[in-house]
Amino acid sequence: MSKIPAVQRIPTQPIAGMKPGTSGLRKRVTEFQSGNYLANFVQSVFNAVRPDGGFTGLTLVLGGDGRYFNDAAIQLVLKMAAANGFARVLVGANGILSTPAASNVIRKNKAFGGLILSASHNAGGPEGDFGIKFNAGNGGPAPEKLTDAMYAESQRINEFLTLDLPELDVSRPGAHRYGGMTVEVIDSVADYVQLMKQLFDFPALKAMFAGGFRLAFDAMHAVTGPYAHAIFEGELGAAPGTVHNGTPLKDFGGHHPDPNLVHAKALYDQMMAPGAPDLGAASDGDGDRNLIIGRDLFISPSDSLAMLAANAHLAPAYAGGIAGVARSMPTSGAVDRVAERLGVPCFETPTGWKFFGNLLDAGKITLCGEESAGTGSNHVREKDGIWAVLLWLTILCQRKQSAMQIAQEHWASYGRNYYTRHDYEEIDSTAAKKLMADLSAKIDAGLQLPKLKFADDFSYTDPVDGSVSKNQGLRVVFEDGSRIVYRLSGTGTTGSTLRVYIERYEADTSQHGLDTQAALADLIALAGKLAEIRERTDRERPDVIT
Ligand code: G6P
Ligand code: ZN
Repeated sequence: MSKIPAVQRIPTQPIAGMKPGTSGLRKRVTEFQSGNYLANFVQSVFNAVRPDGGFTGLTLVLGGDGRYFNDAAIQLVLKMAAANGFARVLVGANGILSTPAASNVIRKNKAFGGLILSASHNAGGPEGDFGIKFNAGNGGPAPEKLTDAMYAESQRINEFLTLDLPELDVSRPGAHRYGGMTVEVIDSVADYVQLMKQLFDFPALKAMFAGGFRLAFDAMHAVTGPYAHAIFEGELGAAPGTVHNGTPLKDFGGHHPDPNLVHAKALYDQMMAPGAPDLGAASDGDGDRNLIIGRDLFISPSDSLAMLAANAHLAPAYAGGIAGVARSMPTSGAVDRVAERLGVPCFETPTGWKFFGNLLDAGKITLCGEESAGTGSNHVREKDGIWAVLLWLTILCQRKQSAMQIAQEHWASYGRNYYTRHDYEEIDSTAAKKLMADLSAKIDAGLQLPKLKFADDFSYTDPVDGSVSKNQGLRVVFEDGSRIVYRLSGTGTTGSTLRVYIERYEADTSQHGLDTQAALADLIALAGKLAEIRERTDRERPDVIT
Protein backbone atom coordinates (compact mmCIF):
# COMPACT_ATOMS: atom_id res chain seq x y z
CA MET A 1 0.00 0.00 0.00
CA SER A 2 1.33 3.41 -0.92
CA LYS A 3 2.52 5.69 1.83
CA ILE A 4 0.09 8.33 3.10
CA PRO A 5 1.48 11.79 2.34
CA ALA A 6 2.08 14.09 5.30
CA VAL A 7 -0.56 16.68 6.13
CA GLN A 8 0.39 20.06 4.70
CA ARG A 9 -0.37 23.11 6.79
CA ILE A 10 -0.70 25.97 4.34
CA PRO A 11 -0.49 29.44 5.90
CA THR A 12 -3.35 31.73 4.93
CA GLN A 13 -5.05 34.93 6.03
CA PRO A 14 -8.65 35.81 6.80
CA ILE A 15 -10.73 36.99 3.86
CA ALA A 16 -13.54 39.45 4.51
CA GLY A 17 -17.18 38.76 3.70
CA MET A 18 -17.46 35.02 4.31
CA LYS A 19 -20.74 35.30 6.16
CA PRO A 20 -23.13 32.53 5.14
CA GLY A 21 -26.48 33.97 4.02
CA THR A 22 -29.98 32.46 3.98
CA SER A 23 -28.50 29.25 2.63
CA GLY A 24 -24.73 28.94 2.87
CA LEU A 25 -22.00 31.04 1.33
CA ARG A 26 -22.75 32.24 -2.19
CA LYS A 27 -20.40 34.32 -4.26
CA ARG A 28 -19.28 34.81 -7.81
CA VAL A 29 -17.32 31.86 -9.22
CA THR A 30 -14.41 34.25 -9.81
CA GLU A 31 -14.30 35.06 -6.11
CA PHE A 32 -14.31 31.38 -5.14
CA GLN A 33 -11.50 30.79 -7.64
CA SER A 34 -9.31 33.55 -6.29
CA GLY A 35 -6.40 32.71 -3.98
CA ASN A 36 -7.32 30.54 -1.00
CA TYR A 37 -10.96 31.57 -0.99
CA LEU A 38 -12.57 28.13 -1.08
CA ALA A 39 -9.89 26.48 1.06
CA ASN A 40 -10.29 29.19 3.69
CA PHE A 41 -14.02 28.67 3.90
CA VAL A 42 -13.87 24.88 3.96
CA GLN A 43 -11.27 25.00 6.75
CA SER A 44 -13.40 27.53 8.62
CA VAL A 45 -16.36 25.16 8.40
CA PHE A 46 -14.27 22.24 9.63
CA ASN A 47 -12.89 24.36 12.48
CA ALA A 48 -16.39 25.43 13.48
CA VAL A 49 -17.96 21.98 13.47
CA ARG A 50 -15.03 19.81 14.65
CA PRO A 51 -16.06 17.69 17.66
CA ASP A 52 -13.70 17.44 20.63
CA GLY A 53 -12.36 14.12 19.42
CA GLY A 54 -11.72 15.41 15.91
CA PHE A 55 -13.16 13.77 12.79
CA THR A 56 -11.70 10.32 13.46
CA GLY A 57 -14.15 7.62 12.50
CA LEU A 58 -16.60 10.14 11.02
CA THR A 59 -18.24 10.28 7.60
CA LEU A 60 -18.74 13.36 5.45
CA VAL A 61 -21.19 13.48 2.53
CA LEU A 62 -20.17 15.52 -0.49
CA GLY A 63 -21.95 16.50 -3.66
CA GLY A 64 -23.20 19.43 -5.65
CA ASP A 65 -25.49 20.57 -8.39
CA GLY A 66 -22.85 20.14 -11.11
CA ARG A 67 -22.47 23.82 -11.87
CA TYR A 68 -19.23 25.31 -13.14
CA PHE A 69 -16.42 24.88 -10.55
CA ASN A 70 -18.20 21.88 -8.95
CA ASP A 71 -15.48 19.48 -10.17
CA ALA A 72 -12.55 21.53 -8.90
CA ALA A 73 -14.27 22.18 -5.57
CA ILE A 74 -14.98 18.46 -5.05
CA GLN A 75 -11.28 17.66 -5.48
CA LEU A 76 -10.22 20.38 -3.08
CA VAL A 77 -12.72 19.30 -0.42
CA LEU A 78 -11.62 15.64 -0.72
CA LYS A 79 -7.98 16.56 -0.05
CA MET A 80 -8.92 18.81 2.85
CA ALA A 81 -11.31 16.23 4.35
CA ALA A 82 -8.52 13.65 4.25
CA ALA A 83 -6.06 16.10 5.82
CA ASN A 84 -8.55 17.05 8.52
CA GLY A 85 -8.90 13.41 9.55
CA PHE A 86 -12.28 12.24 8.26
CA ALA A 87 -12.54 8.46 8.04
CA ARG A 88 -14.81 8.38 5.02
CA VAL A 89 -16.38 10.61 2.41
CA LEU A 90 -19.48 9.56 0.49
CA VAL A 91 -19.45 11.46 -2.75
CA GLY A 92 -22.14 11.40 -5.42
CA ALA A 93 -20.89 10.00 -8.73
CA ASN A 94 -19.27 12.79 -10.75
CA GLY A 95 -19.70 15.02 -7.73
CA ILE A 96 -23.48 15.18 -8.23
CA LEU A 97 -26.10 15.13 -5.49
CA SER A 98 -29.26 17.19 -5.44
CA THR A 99 -29.74 19.02 -2.15
CA PRO A 100 -32.60 16.76 -0.95
CA ALA A 101 -30.68 13.67 -2.09
CA ALA A 102 -27.65 14.82 -0.10
CA SER A 103 -29.86 15.32 2.95
CA ASN A 104 -31.12 11.77 2.53
CA VAL A 105 -27.63 10.30 2.13
CA ILE A 106 -26.50 12.06 5.33
CA ARG A 107 -29.45 10.69 7.29
CA LYS A 108 -29.41 7.20 5.84
CA ASN A 109 -25.70 6.73 6.53
CA LYS A 110 -25.73 8.48 9.90
CA ALA A 111 -22.98 10.72 8.58
CA PHE A 112 -21.45 13.47 10.66
CA GLY A 113 -22.63 15.99 8.09
CA GLY A 114 -22.23 17.04 4.50
CA LEU A 115 -20.95 19.75 2.25
CA ILE A 116 -23.35 20.72 -0.53
CA LEU A 117 -21.91 22.69 -3.42
CA SER A 118 -24.56 24.85 -4.98
CA ALA A 119 -25.75 28.38 -5.48
CA SER A 120 -29.26 26.99 -5.90
CA HIS A 121 -31.26 28.98 -8.43
CA ASN A 122 -28.53 31.55 -9.14
CA ALA A 123 -27.01 31.54 -12.63
CA GLY A 124 -23.90 29.39 -13.20
CA GLY A 125 -20.90 29.38 -15.50
CA PRO A 126 -17.54 31.15 -15.25
CA GLU A 127 -19.31 34.49 -14.78
CA GLY A 128 -22.06 33.03 -12.62
CA ASP A 129 -22.33 32.06 -8.97
CA PHE A 130 -21.02 29.23 -6.84
CA GLY A 131 -21.93 28.29 -3.31
CA ILE A 132 -21.21 25.92 -0.48
CA LYS A 133 -23.04 25.02 2.69
CA PHE A 134 -22.68 22.59 5.55
CA ASN A 135 -25.53 20.33 6.58
CA ALA A 136 -25.43 18.69 9.98
CA GLY A 137 -26.03 15.07 10.94
CA ASN A 138 -29.81 15.49 10.85
CA GLY A 139 -29.44 16.25 7.13
CA GLY A 140 -30.45 19.88 7.53
CA PRO A 141 -28.70 23.19 6.91
CA ALA A 142 -26.51 24.36 9.76
CA PRO A 143 -28.42 26.49 12.27
CA GLU A 144 -27.46 30.15 12.76
CA LYS A 145 -25.33 29.35 15.78
CA LEU A 146 -23.06 27.24 13.57
CA THR A 147 -23.03 29.57 10.58
CA ASP A 148 -22.03 32.39 12.95
CA ALA A 149 -19.22 30.18 14.25
CA MET A 150 -18.06 29.48 10.67
CA TYR A 151 -17.92 33.18 9.98
CA ALA A 152 -15.97 33.81 13.18
CA GLU A 153 -13.47 31.10 12.18
CA SER A 154 -13.10 32.66 8.73
CA GLN A 155 -12.08 35.90 10.40
CA ARG A 156 -9.28 34.38 12.44
CA ILE A 157 -8.03 31.57 10.19
CA ASN A 158 -4.26 31.35 9.72
CA GLU A 159 -3.76 27.98 8.03
CA PHE A 160 -5.63 25.25 6.21
CA LEU A 161 -4.87 21.55 6.03
CA THR A 162 -4.50 19.63 2.82
CA LEU A 163 -2.73 16.62 1.32
CA ASP A 164 -0.59 16.43 -1.77
CA LEU A 165 -2.57 13.77 -3.60
CA PRO A 166 -3.49 13.24 -7.25
CA GLU A 167 -7.06 13.96 -8.31
CA LEU A 168 -9.50 11.17 -7.58
CA ASP A 169 -11.63 9.87 -10.43
CA VAL A 170 -15.11 10.38 -8.96
CA SER A 171 -16.81 8.85 -11.97
CA ARG A 172 -15.83 5.35 -10.80
CA PRO A 173 -18.41 3.95 -8.34
CA GLY A 174 -17.12 2.07 -5.33
CA ALA A 175 -14.64 2.56 -2.53
CA HIS A 176 -11.24 4.15 -3.10
CA ARG A 177 -8.40 4.73 -0.63
CA TYR A 178 -7.47 8.38 -0.57
CA GLY A 179 -4.77 9.41 1.87
CA GLY A 180 -5.79 7.86 5.18
CA MET A 181 -9.43 8.08 4.19
CA THR A 182 -11.92 6.04 2.19
CA VAL A 183 -13.87 7.76 -0.55
CA GLU A 184 -17.00 5.94 -1.59
CA VAL A 185 -18.39 7.06 -4.89
CA ILE A 186 -22.13 6.40 -4.69
CA ASP A 187 -24.96 6.40 -7.21
CA SER A 188 -26.40 9.93 -7.03
CA VAL A 189 -29.96 8.86 -7.73
CA ALA A 190 -30.60 5.33 -6.37
CA ASP A 191 -31.11 6.08 -2.65
CA TYR A 192 -33.39 8.98 -3.45
CA VAL A 193 -35.59 6.89 -5.76
CA GLN A 194 -35.88 4.27 -3.05
CA LEU A 195 -36.97 6.89 -0.51
CA MET A 196 -39.66 8.25 -2.85
CA LYS A 197 -40.96 4.73 -3.38
CA GLN A 198 -41.43 4.40 0.37
CA LEU A 199 -43.40 7.63 0.59
CA PHE A 200 -45.67 7.35 -2.44
CA ASP A 201 -47.79 4.71 -4.14
CA PHE A 202 -45.72 4.24 -7.30
CA PRO A 203 -47.98 1.52 -8.80
CA ALA A 204 -51.01 3.86 -8.55
CA LEU A 205 -49.08 6.70 -10.17
CA LYS A 206 -47.82 4.36 -12.86
CA ALA A 207 -51.39 3.32 -13.63
CA MET A 208 -52.36 6.98 -13.91
CA PHE A 209 -49.63 7.61 -16.48
CA ALA A 210 -50.59 4.41 -18.32
CA GLY A 211 -54.11 5.83 -18.50
CA GLY A 212 -52.86 8.83 -20.48
CA PHE A 213 -51.97 11.35 -17.77
CA ARG A 214 -49.45 13.89 -19.05
CA LEU A 215 -46.77 15.72 -17.05
CA ALA A 216 -44.31 18.33 -18.28
CA PHE A 217 -41.30 18.62 -15.98
CA ASP A 218 -38.67 21.27 -16.66
CA ALA A 219 -35.34 20.31 -15.10
CA MET A 220 -33.87 23.60 -16.33
CA HIS A 221 -30.60 21.88 -17.36
CA ALA A 222 -29.90 21.50 -13.66
CA VAL A 223 -29.42 18.69 -11.20
CA THR A 224 -32.93 17.18 -11.22
CA GLY A 225 -32.58 15.92 -14.80
CA PRO A 226 -31.24 12.46 -13.85
CA TYR A 227 -33.65 12.16 -10.90
CA ALA A 228 -36.65 13.16 -13.00
CA HIS A 229 -35.75 10.84 -15.87
CA ALA A 230 -35.34 7.94 -13.43
CA ILE A 231 -38.56 8.59 -11.51
CA PHE A 232 -41.10 10.04 -13.93
CA GLU A 233 -40.07 8.36 -17.17
CA GLY A 234 -38.33 5.31 -15.67
CA GLU A 235 -40.30 4.21 -12.61
CA LEU A 236 -43.66 5.76 -13.43
CA GLY A 237 -43.64 5.15 -17.17
CA ALA A 238 -44.40 8.74 -18.20
CA ALA A 239 -43.88 9.29 -21.91
CA PRO A 240 -40.33 9.98 -23.09
CA GLY A 241 -40.01 13.73 -23.41
CA THR A 242 -41.92 14.34 -20.18
CA VAL A 243 -38.68 15.73 -18.75
CA HIS A 244 -37.57 18.89 -20.53
CA ASN A 245 -33.99 20.22 -20.35
CA GLY A 246 -33.04 17.01 -18.54
CA THR A 247 -29.32 17.12 -19.27
CA PRO A 248 -27.45 18.99 -16.54
CA LEU A 249 -25.16 21.69 -17.94
CA LYS A 250 -22.44 23.54 -16.05
CA ASP A 251 -23.98 26.88 -16.96
CA PHE A 252 -27.61 25.68 -17.08
CA GLY A 253 -27.64 26.54 -20.77
CA GLY A 254 -27.03 30.18 -19.92
CA HIS A 255 -30.34 30.47 -18.05
CA HIS A 256 -31.24 31.05 -14.41
CA PRO A 257 -32.27 27.66 -13.02
CA ASP A 258 -34.98 29.40 -11.02
CA PRO A 259 -38.41 27.83 -11.32
CA ASN A 260 -40.61 30.88 -11.48
CA LEU A 261 -42.84 32.44 -14.08
CA VAL A 262 -39.98 34.49 -15.51
CA HIS A 263 -37.32 31.83 -15.87
CA ALA A 264 -39.64 28.91 -16.59
CA LYS A 265 -41.72 30.92 -19.01
CA ALA A 266 -41.67 28.26 -21.74
CA LEU A 267 -43.30 25.80 -19.34
CA TYR A 268 -45.83 28.40 -18.27
CA ASP A 269 -46.73 29.17 -21.89
CA GLN A 270 -47.12 25.47 -22.60
CA MET A 271 -49.48 25.10 -19.64
CA MET A 272 -51.60 28.06 -20.77
CA ALA A 273 -51.85 26.87 -24.39
CA PRO A 274 -54.52 24.58 -25.86
CA GLY A 275 -53.72 20.89 -25.40
CA ALA A 276 -51.62 21.55 -22.29
CA PRO A 277 -50.48 18.55 -20.22
CA ASP A 278 -52.32 17.76 -16.98
CA LEU A 279 -49.56 19.14 -14.78
CA GLY A 280 -46.51 21.32 -15.32
CA ALA A 281 -43.66 21.43 -12.86
CA ALA A 282 -40.07 22.57 -12.59
CA SER A 283 -37.20 22.50 -10.13
CA ASP A 284 -34.13 24.64 -9.57
CA GLY A 285 -30.34 24.34 -9.81
CA ASP A 286 -29.94 21.97 -6.85
CA GLY A 287 -33.36 20.33 -6.92
CA ASP A 288 -34.92 21.66 -3.75
CA ARG A 289 -37.40 24.17 -5.16
CA ASN A 290 -40.56 23.47 -7.11
CA LEU A 291 -42.93 25.27 -9.42
CA ILE A 292 -46.40 23.83 -9.93
CA ILE A 293 -48.63 24.88 -12.81
CA GLY A 294 -51.98 23.35 -13.56
CA ARG A 295 -53.71 23.68 -16.89
CA ASP A 296 -54.49 27.40 -17.11
CA LEU A 297 -53.47 27.98 -13.50
CA PHE A 298 -50.24 28.81 -11.71
CA ILE A 299 -50.38 27.55 -8.15
CA SER A 300 -48.47 29.97 -5.94
CA PRO A 301 -45.99 28.28 -3.57
CA SER A 302 -47.96 29.52 -0.55
CA ASP A 303 -51.18 28.04 -1.95
CA SER A 304 -49.37 24.88 -2.92
CA LEU A 305 -48.20 24.40 0.67
CA ALA A 306 -51.76 24.82 1.93
CA MET A 307 -53.20 22.44 -0.66
CA LEU A 308 -50.51 19.83 0.01
CA ALA A 309 -51.18 20.06 3.75
CA ALA A 310 -54.92 19.68 3.22
CA ASN A 311 -54.44 16.61 1.02
CA ALA A 312 -51.26 14.99 2.34
CA HIS A 313 -53.20 12.12 3.89
CA LEU A 314 -53.80 10.82 0.36
CA ALA A 315 -50.16 9.68 0.20
CA PRO A 316 -49.16 6.52 2.12
CA ALA A 317 -46.42 8.37 4.05
CA TYR A 318 -48.91 10.82 5.57
CA ALA A 319 -52.02 8.64 5.69
CA GLY A 320 -51.97 8.76 9.49
CA GLY A 321 -52.27 12.56 9.45
CA ILE A 322 -49.73 15.27 10.05
CA ALA A 323 -48.36 16.47 13.38
CA GLY A 324 -48.19 20.12 12.42
CA VAL A 325 -47.04 22.53 9.75
CA ALA A 326 -44.66 25.45 9.51
CA ARG A 327 -44.16 28.27 7.08
CA SER A 328 -41.71 31.12 6.84
CA MET A 329 -43.06 34.45 8.02
CA PRO A 330 -43.40 36.02 4.54
CA THR A 331 -45.27 32.95 3.24
CA SER A 332 -49.02 33.55 3.02
CA GLY A 333 -51.34 32.48 5.80
CA ALA A 334 -53.21 29.99 3.58
CA VAL A 335 -51.68 26.99 5.36
CA ASP A 336 -52.63 28.43 8.76
CA ARG A 337 -56.28 27.90 7.89
CA VAL A 338 -55.65 24.29 6.92
CA ALA A 339 -53.77 23.67 10.17
CA GLU A 340 -56.61 25.22 12.13
CA ARG A 341 -59.16 22.93 10.49
CA LEU A 342 -56.96 19.88 10.99
CA GLY A 343 -56.47 20.88 14.61
CA VAL A 344 -52.67 20.84 14.34
CA PRO A 345 -50.18 23.60 15.21
CA CYS A 346 -48.79 26.00 12.62
CA PHE A 347 -45.38 27.58 13.29
CA GLU A 348 -44.17 30.83 11.75
CA THR A 349 -40.39 30.88 11.26
CA PRO A 350 -37.91 33.29 9.69
CA THR A 351 -36.98 32.81 6.03
CA GLY A 352 -34.56 29.92 5.52
CA TRP A 353 -35.03 26.17 5.63
CA LYS A 354 -32.62 25.85 8.55
CA PHE A 355 -35.36 27.17 10.86
CA PHE A 356 -37.55 24.11 10.18
CA GLY A 357 -34.88 21.64 11.30
CA ASN A 358 -35.57 21.73 15.04
CA LEU A 359 -39.34 21.53 14.53
CA LEU A 360 -38.96 18.51 12.25
CA ASP A 361 -36.45 16.81 14.54
CA ALA A 362 -38.73 17.34 17.53
CA GLY A 363 -41.69 15.85 15.64
CA LYS A 364 -43.67 19.07 16.01
CA ILE A 365 -44.32 19.35 12.27
CA THR A 366 -44.61 17.00 9.32
CA LEU A 367 -44.88 19.45 6.41
CA CYS A 368 -43.35 22.85 5.88
CA GLY A 369 -42.82 25.35 3.14
CA GLU A 370 -41.91 28.79 1.97
CA GLU A 371 -43.14 31.33 -0.53
CA SER A 372 -39.79 30.98 -2.30
CA ALA A 373 -40.95 27.80 -4.03
CA GLY A 374 -39.88 25.40 -1.32
CA THR A 375 -41.99 22.63 0.17
CA GLY A 376 -40.93 19.57 2.06
CA SER A 377 -41.65 17.13 4.83
CA ASN A 378 -39.97 15.15 7.56
CA HIS A 379 -38.57 12.66 5.01
CA VAL A 380 -35.38 14.76 4.73
CA ARG A 381 -34.27 18.06 6.25
CA GLU A 382 -34.27 20.08 3.05
CA LYS A 383 -37.03 21.24 0.80
CA ASP A 384 -37.56 18.84 -2.04
CA GLY A 385 -38.68 19.69 -5.57
CA ILE A 386 -39.37 16.22 -6.94
CA TRP A 387 -41.09 15.18 -3.72
CA ALA A 388 -43.51 18.12 -4.13
CA VAL A 389 -44.30 17.05 -7.68
CA LEU A 390 -44.91 13.47 -6.53
CA LEU A 391 -47.28 14.69 -3.81
CA TRP A 392 -49.18 16.80 -6.34
CA LEU A 393 -49.35 13.82 -8.71
CA THR A 394 -50.68 11.72 -5.84
CA ILE A 395 -53.42 14.23 -5.11
CA LEU A 396 -54.47 14.47 -8.75
CA CYS A 397 -54.42 10.68 -8.94
CA GLN A 398 -56.45 10.06 -5.79
CA ARG A 399 -58.96 12.86 -6.24
CA LYS A 400 -59.29 12.32 -9.99
CA GLN A 401 -59.59 16.04 -10.47
CA SER A 402 -57.58 18.69 -12.27
CA ALA A 403 -55.25 21.05 -10.44
CA MET A 404 -57.70 23.84 -11.26
CA GLN A 405 -60.60 21.98 -9.62
CA ILE A 406 -58.52 21.21 -6.57
CA ALA A 407 -57.48 24.84 -6.21
CA GLN A 408 -61.01 26.16 -6.69
CA GLU A 409 -62.48 23.75 -4.17
CA HIS A 410 -59.72 24.64 -1.74
CA TRP A 411 -60.43 28.35 -2.01
CA ALA A 412 -64.18 27.77 -1.73
CA SER A 413 -63.62 25.79 1.43
CA TYR A 414 -60.91 27.87 3.14
CA GLY A 415 -61.07 31.25 1.42
CA ARG A 416 -58.32 32.58 -0.82
CA ASN A 417 -55.17 34.37 0.26
CA TYR A 418 -54.27 36.60 -2.67
CA TYR A 419 -50.52 36.85 -2.57
CA THR A 420 -47.67 38.35 -4.54
CA ARG A 421 -43.97 39.07 -4.13
CA HIS A 422 -42.29 42.04 -5.78
CA ASP A 423 -38.51 41.90 -6.11
CA TYR A 424 -36.25 44.86 -6.75
CA GLU A 425 -33.00 43.19 -7.72
CA GLU A 426 -29.40 44.35 -7.50
CA ILE A 427 -30.22 47.73 -6.06
CA ASP A 428 -27.54 49.77 -4.35
CA SER A 429 -26.83 48.12 -0.98
CA THR A 430 -26.48 51.35 0.95
CA ALA A 431 -29.78 52.63 -0.38
CA ALA A 432 -31.45 49.30 0.38
CA LYS A 433 -30.20 49.23 3.96
CA LYS A 434 -31.26 52.82 4.48
CA LEU A 435 -34.72 52.11 3.10
CA MET A 436 -35.12 49.32 5.64
CA ALA A 437 -33.63 51.31 8.51
CA ASP A 438 -35.83 54.33 7.83
CA LEU A 439 -38.94 52.20 7.49
CA SER A 440 -38.06 50.43 10.70
CA ALA A 441 -37.70 53.80 12.46
CA LYS A 442 -41.04 54.89 11.05
CA ILE A 443 -42.63 51.73 12.41
CA ASP A 444 -41.03 52.25 15.81
CA ALA A 445 -42.36 55.80 15.88
CA GLY A 446 -45.88 54.40 15.27
CA LEU A 447 -47.54 54.14 11.86
CA GLN A 448 -50.83 55.96 11.44
CA LEU A 449 -52.82 53.82 9.00
CA PRO A 450 -56.51 52.96 8.92
CA LYS A 451 -57.32 49.49 10.32
CA LEU A 452 -53.71 48.80 11.22
CA LYS A 453 -53.42 45.87 13.62
CA PHE A 454 -49.68 46.11 14.28
CA ALA A 455 -46.36 46.75 12.63
CA ASP A 456 -43.02 45.35 13.78
CA ASP A 457 -39.69 43.80 12.94
CA PHE A 458 -40.22 40.02 13.04
CA SER A 459 -38.30 38.19 15.72
CA TYR A 460 -38.38 34.42 16.26
CA THR A 461 -37.81 32.35 19.34
CA ASP A 462 -37.15 28.73 18.43
CA PRO A 463 -39.65 26.69 20.49
CA VAL A 464 -37.21 23.79 20.72
CA ASP A 465 -33.89 25.33 21.73
CA GLY A 466 -35.02 28.82 22.72
CA SER A 467 -32.59 30.58 20.36
CA VAL A 468 -33.70 34.02 19.23
CA SER A 469 -33.37 35.41 15.67
CA LYS A 470 -34.03 39.11 15.37
CA ASN A 471 -34.57 41.51 12.44
CA GLN A 472 -36.18 38.94 10.19
CA GLY A 473 -38.40 41.31 8.19
CA LEU A 474 -40.64 44.32 8.65
CA ARG A 475 -44.34 43.54 8.89
CA VAL A 476 -47.32 45.83 8.49
CA VAL A 477 -50.41 43.84 9.41
CA PHE A 478 -54.04 44.97 9.15
CA GLU A 479 -57.09 43.96 11.13
CA ASP A 480 -58.44 41.68 8.37
CA GLY A 481 -55.10 39.84 8.16
CA SER A 482 -53.89 41.70 5.05
CA ARG A 483 -50.14 42.25 5.23
CA ILE A 484 -47.19 43.98 3.70
CA VAL A 485 -43.78 42.48 4.51
CA TYR A 486 -40.39 43.89 3.58
CA ARG A 487 -37.06 42.02 3.67
CA LEU A 488 -33.68 42.14 2.06
CA SER A 489 -32.77 38.87 0.37
CA GLY A 490 -30.01 36.81 1.95
CA THR A 491 -29.14 34.84 -1.18
CA GLY A 492 -28.06 37.44 -3.72
CA THR A 493 -24.44 38.03 -4.64
CA THR A 494 -24.52 41.50 -6.20
CA GLY A 495 -25.96 44.60 -4.53
CA SER A 496 -29.13 44.04 -2.53
CA THR A 497 -32.49 42.64 -3.44
CA LEU A 498 -35.54 44.13 -1.77
CA ARG A 499 -38.46 41.74 -1.47
CA VAL A 500 -41.93 43.07 -0.79
CA TYR A 501 -44.57 40.48 0.04
CA ILE A 502 -48.21 41.47 -0.18
CA GLU A 503 -51.22 39.49 0.92
CA ARG A 504 -54.97 39.85 1.32
CA TYR A 505 -57.52 37.31 2.48
CA GLU A 506 -60.75 36.96 0.54
CA ALA A 507 -63.55 34.82 1.94
CA ASP A 508 -66.13 35.60 -0.77
CA THR A 509 -66.12 32.81 -3.38
CA SER A 510 -67.47 35.16 -6.06
CA GLN A 511 -64.22 37.11 -5.70
CA HIS A 512 -61.86 34.16 -6.11
CA GLY A 513 -61.25 34.52 -9.83
CA LEU A 514 -59.54 37.92 -9.81
CA ASP A 515 -56.18 38.70 -11.29
CA THR A 516 -53.74 38.65 -8.37
CA GLN A 517 -52.07 41.99 -9.10
CA ALA A 518 -55.47 43.65 -9.51
CA ALA A 519 -56.80 42.05 -6.34
CA LEU A 520 -53.84 43.50 -4.43
CA ALA A 521 -53.53 46.84 -6.22
CA ASP A 522 -54.37 49.03 -3.20
CA LEU A 523 -51.90 47.28 -0.92
CA ILE A 524 -49.21 47.31 -3.62
CA ALA A 525 -49.58 51.07 -3.94
CA LEU A 526 -49.46 51.49 -0.17
CA ALA A 527 -46.36 49.29 0.07
CA GLY A 528 -44.53 51.49 -2.41
CA LYS A 529 -45.58 54.66 -0.64
CA LEU A 530 -44.72 53.53 2.89
CA ALA A 531 -41.16 52.57 1.99
CA GLU A 532 -40.68 55.22 -0.71
CA ILE A 533 -39.51 52.46 -3.00
CA ARG A 534 -39.51 54.40 -6.24
CA GLU A 535 -37.67 57.40 -4.84
CA ARG A 536 -35.05 55.36 -3.05
CA THR A 537 -34.35 52.67 -5.64
CA ASP A 538 -34.86 54.64 -8.83
CA ARG A 539 -36.96 51.75 -10.09
CA GLU A 540 -40.27 52.38 -11.78
CA ARG A 541 -41.39 48.83 -11.18
CA PRO A 542 -40.17 45.55 -9.67
CA ASP A 543 -37.77 43.40 -11.69
CA VAL A 544 -39.59 40.20 -10.87
CA ILE A 545 -43.20 39.70 -9.81
CA THR A 546 -44.21 36.29 -8.55
C1 G6P B 1 -32.99 29.65 -0.20
C2 G6P B 1 -33.30 29.01 1.10
C3 G6P B 1 -34.75 29.21 1.42
C4 G6P B 1 -35.13 30.66 1.37
C5 G6P B 1 -34.74 31.24 0.05
C6 G6P B 1 -35.03 32.73 -0.08
O1 G6P B 1 -33.63 28.97 -1.23
O2 G6P B 1 -33.00 27.63 1.07
O3 G6P B 1 -35.02 28.64 2.65
O4 G6P B 1 -36.49 30.82 1.54
O5 G6P B 1 -33.39 31.00 -0.19
O6 G6P B 1 -34.04 33.48 0.45
P1 G6P B 1 -33.91 35.05 0.25
O7 G6P B 1 -33.11 35.44 1.44
O8 G6P B 1 -33.23 35.28 -1.07
O9 G6P B 1 -35.31 35.61 0.24
ZN1 ZN C 1 -32.24 25.48 -4.43
